[in-house]
Amino acid sequence: MGTFYVTTPIYYVNAAPHLGHAYTTIAADVLARHHRQRAQDVFFLTGTDEHGEPVALAAEALGVTPKELADQNAERFTALAPRLDATNDFFIRTSDPRHVEAVQAVLARVKDNGYVYEGEYEGWYCPRCADFKSETEIADGNRCPIHEIELTREKETNWFFALSRFQEPLEQLYAEREDFVLPASRRNEALSFIRSGLRDVSLSRSTLTWGVPVPWDPEQVFYVWFDALLNYVTALQFAREGEDLTDHFWPASVHIIGKDILKFHTVYWPALLMAAGLPVPERVFVHGFLLGSDGRKMSKSLGNVLDPFEVMDRYGTDALRYYLLRDVAFGSDGSVSMEGVVSRFEGELANELGNLASRTIAMVLRYRDGAVPSCAVDPVISDAFASLPATVAERVDAVDLTGALDAIWELVRRLNRYVEETTPWVLAKDEARAGELDTALASLVAGVRTLSVLLHPWLPEATEKLRGALGTPSTGYTDAELVAGGVARVEKLAPLFPKTQ
Ligand code: MSP
Repeated sequence: MGTFYVTTPIYYVNAAPHLGHAYTTIAADVLARHHRQRAQDVFFLTGTDEHGEPVALAAEALGVTPKELADQNAERFTALAPRLDATNDFFIRTSDPRHVEAVQAVLARVKDNGYVYEGEYEGWYCPRCADFKSETEIADGNRCPIHEIELTREKETNWFFALSRFQEPLEQLYAEREDFVLPASRRNEALSFIRSGLRDVSLSRSTLTWGVPVPWDPEQVFYVWFDALLNYVTALQFAREGEDLTDHFWPASVHIIGKDILKFHTVYWPALLMAAGLPVPERVFVHGFLLGSDGRKMSKSLGNVLDPFEVMDRYGTDALRYYLLRDVAFGSDGSVSMEGVVSRFEGELANELGNLASRTIAMVLRYRDGAVPSCAVDPVISDAFASLPATVAERVDAVDLTGALDAIWELVRRLNRYVEETTPWVLAKDEARAGELDTALASLVAGVRTLSVLLHPWLPEATEKLRGALGTPSTGYTDAELVAGGVARVEKLAPLFPKTQ
């Protein structure tokens, strides 16, 4: 059966949930749902990153305490997951005392293992990234390349993590595990960062109080990135009351992250785990950035922002899930816009898939009183879906969520062409052609049934409705269940993609 553990990054609570957060959560949910379909024991984790300077600064600007701000915004993130139909098994908040304690225990072990020392650090620092920048990471005018704000010169005595000692082990890890980081271009980026020479990094901050106290030096708090990264292992200790899931689910099958946090997940994180004597994750998948309609970074002042809540209010959650993973190849950057949503919604969801499903069911109701003829799938189209479940599984295993969806959509289009080729409404007028009509109807039902299972991770609401009308609620992923489908009768189907506003 096997286990599958997938995570999203934990989101900063210094801002409200936006499209970037929705994107990562949706992608991780598609993986979680797909692996559950294949009868794997899945654990899906998301949550909020609540400590550190960015949160402390945002709270100060609002005149509230960091904890108050964290509580307020964590609630919005907790609510976002079900709104996206995300099926996370747990939601971790790093201000949870159980996380705090677990972080202290792991990092004390890293110190006991000899990878922590006291030292002085001076460098250029971006408070929004909560990160010191190396010479190659500084943009013109001494600015942060991500936030475009001026960097500050910081000097402090604190605890260091001996990252430099992991240069070789990391190079070896990358050499042994071709697919540790995907896509390949991101793997190369991580590897060249490692090869360019690793410097030790500060593990603690002395000028900040909003964080996890260093147990052997309570004047300092751990640098937020170490506290945050550790969520992926600490959550397993307390996610399920009275159980420790660590041995069962760790190492994670895949961490889904955006390209801006590559260095932390592909360099610091495996090094930290090695230092703590823990296994490294199986894979880190790095997705691109969703850009505004003009191809520029989304920003309110440019007016090029796509609001996920507006999309869901107008077209439903399925439409948002589908659009983001279909329109932008998962792993690459791409522009998104409301016009794009409308075009995919009308052209593909409502017309191609919605009509195919409603026509198929309506024809079985009209010509066969709802009883699905029990005959074999027409060999003309059986090829189009016999191997599809395996193709989809293969692509999802490679985290190619767009490629998997593309393959499924070929079947949607093939079935629509099949309707035009067979013209069941013509066959229905000729008693002598009843056998042909039976084959056409049975084949269409089998095809639609396959779609109702394969598309479940991307379109959980529509496919549930569809499986209801087919009388086959199971999402189980075996050829027997998919192709034969066991559909005996169909029921009237309500529109799959109604416009909600
Ligand atoms: N708190 C850290 C992650 C710690 S994980 C141990 C963080 N949080 S974040 O809230 O700023 O970002 C979370 C995720 O949202 C990142 O994966 C980031 O790449 C993603 N996105 C933010 N804006 C985005 C787009 N415009 N497009 C796609 N994803 C982007 O980083």
